[in-house]
Amino acid sequence: MSRRKKIYEGKAKILYEGPEPGTLVQYFKDDATAFNNKKKATLEGKGVLNNRISEFIMLNLGRIGVPTHFIRRLNMREQLVREVEIIPLEVICRNVAAGSISQRLGIAEGDPLPRSIVEFCYKNDTLGDPLVAEEHITAFNWASTQEIDDIISLTLRVNDFLSGMFAAVGIRLIDFKLEFGRLYEGDMVRTVLADEISPDSCRLWDIETNEKMDKDRFRRDLGNVTEAYAEVARRLGIMKEAPRAANDEAWK
Ligand code: TMP
Ligand code: ASP
Repeated sequence: MSRRKKIYEGKAKILYEGPEPGTLVQYFKDDATAFNNKKKATLEGKGVLNNRISEFIMLNLGRIGVPTHFIRRLNMREQLVREVEIIPLEVICRNVAAGSISQRLGIAEGDPLPRSIVEFCYKNDTLGDPLVAEEHITAFNWASTQEIDDIISLTLRVNDFLSGMFAAVGIRLIDFKLEFGRLYEGDMVRTVLADEISPDSCRLWDIETNEKMDKDRFRRDLGNVTEAYAEVARRLGIMKEAPRAANDEAWK
């Protein structure tokens, strides 16, 4: 078997050249990092769970008309996606205060925000993904005003859809992070949702108990990280039962 060409390796995923021009294979690793790579671990089964959860979410967003890079899942750890030019922004949408907004503005974690807030961070690991304003984004040409408008309206649609979808299974969507890309089709460019949506990139709390079901379990050493991800998958109906070990075998 010939080795596939690796296009990019990130902290939790690898992108390989796809089978056709304009496609990529997105491989989900078990690696977890936090605090800009200062904390690292391998969580067995995480990649398998995130591949399935992200597939489920992207497919459902596609059905309500949100354009995404997702084409189809290939296997336990890989999905076929459209090649896009990633816009160098981490787009964060918050419904309830937690994490960095709580620290920055002194709002207690768990306090509902007066309205959903969309924030932008400049995607740059060396700088630690700093929070930026639209002024910076347009001045430095990271995205155009039209792209920012598209990104905000898509993010709010994603928020409405995901908030309802998770609420229906007893999960509160506290916040999440999205990434967008430019999809070139002939001489047209479209802004589409890229990357992944999974418990790595969302804060998800049980509606009844406020128990964390996301990557904060890893960041804050709360334990049972993959078990919590598996419970999210189980509630969404992706898995019939949450297997004790969310390893590749349990999914075959
Ligand atoms: P924050 O409160 O640390 O700014 O995180 C807000 C949301 O964005 C939270 O759901 C976690 C997610 N996130 C990422 O997916 N990647 C990141 O690098 C960071 C900092 C946050
Ligand atoms: N994923 C980021 C990192 O590796 C930060 C985080 O999610 O906490 O640093």
